[in-house]
Amino acid sequence: MSDGYRQLLEATIQHLEGLKARGIRHIPVEPTTLRALAQPPPKTVAPQKAMAPPKPPGNPATVPATPVPTAPSPVPSPTHPPQAAAEKAAAMAALRERALACTRCPHLVTARTNVVFGVGNINAQLLFVGEAPGADEDQQGEPFVGAAGQLLTKIISATGLSRADVYIANILKCRPDTPGQTAGNRKPTPAEMATCIPYLHEQIDLIRPQVIVALGATAVEGLLGKTAGISKLRGHWQTYRGTPLMPTYHPAYLLRNQAMSEKRNVWEDLLQVMEKLALPISEKQRNYFLKV
Ligand code: URA
Repeated sequence: MSDGYRQLLEATIQHLEGLKARGIRHIPVEPTTLRALAQPPPKTVAPQKAMAPPKPPGNPATVPATPVPTAPSPVPSPTHPPQAAAEKAAAMAALRERALACTRCPHLVTARTNVVFGVGNINAQLLFVGEAPGADEDQQGEPFVGAAGQLLTKIISATGLSRADVYIANILKCRPDTPGQTAGNRKPTPAEMATCIPYLHEQIDLIRPQVIVALGATAVEGLLGKTAGISKLRGHWQTYRGTPLMPTYHPAYLLRNQAMSEKRNVWEDLLQVMEKLALPISEKQRNYFLKV
């Protein structure tokens, strides 16, 4: 086994052990990745190839978060060579380790319980970007797990996808501190956003999603630098470094404003996303949140 391959393997195992230590027992793995992982190690590591193009959504298999033993198996898809998949996983694991050790915002380091890096399928076609972790996310180390997160999970399910099919991240990886307050959130400052955004840029470079959904004004501002109101921007395609980006309302806004018309607005934005990704859309899905 070459040194390069051994390093990648060790980084992957380290990442999986880290997940296990945090109580994660299952991770989504697509069948092509599973086949690639089961390939015997190459004798030499070729120079890094371009990332495999994103694949259509499916229901990825779920496997235990422990290293997969090598065994002879079918030839992997040529679009997903083993070292490209392993290198991508290792690069994401290394980026995660850097973010978890970040001390660029000392006031946030003091206040945080966890750095909330991001979660989901690193080969996802669809990336959701929110603002910053709230109290629940800070406690659990995972984005969108509080009330707004539960609504986001429902929105994702309504498209026919699951949280495990997509990737979810935030502009800020640490919870904005609220000194002297026991509850509540605050918007990240421009300085905090500028400091943290390189991590998200790197995540997006690795994932290479086909579509990004920016949840709320802060996500749009962080990714595009646009400060026009979200009610003006939502529903209109934008471009983030060549990738189509759909701005929509943040799920927390939908929790505050229960109007059916706003739910429909968000749903129409998601229908546009589904069309862009060529996801199947049933008549029932088309009519969600329409008045009868
Ligand atoms: N709101 C966000 O923008 N991100 C989270 O992770 C949770 C709530």
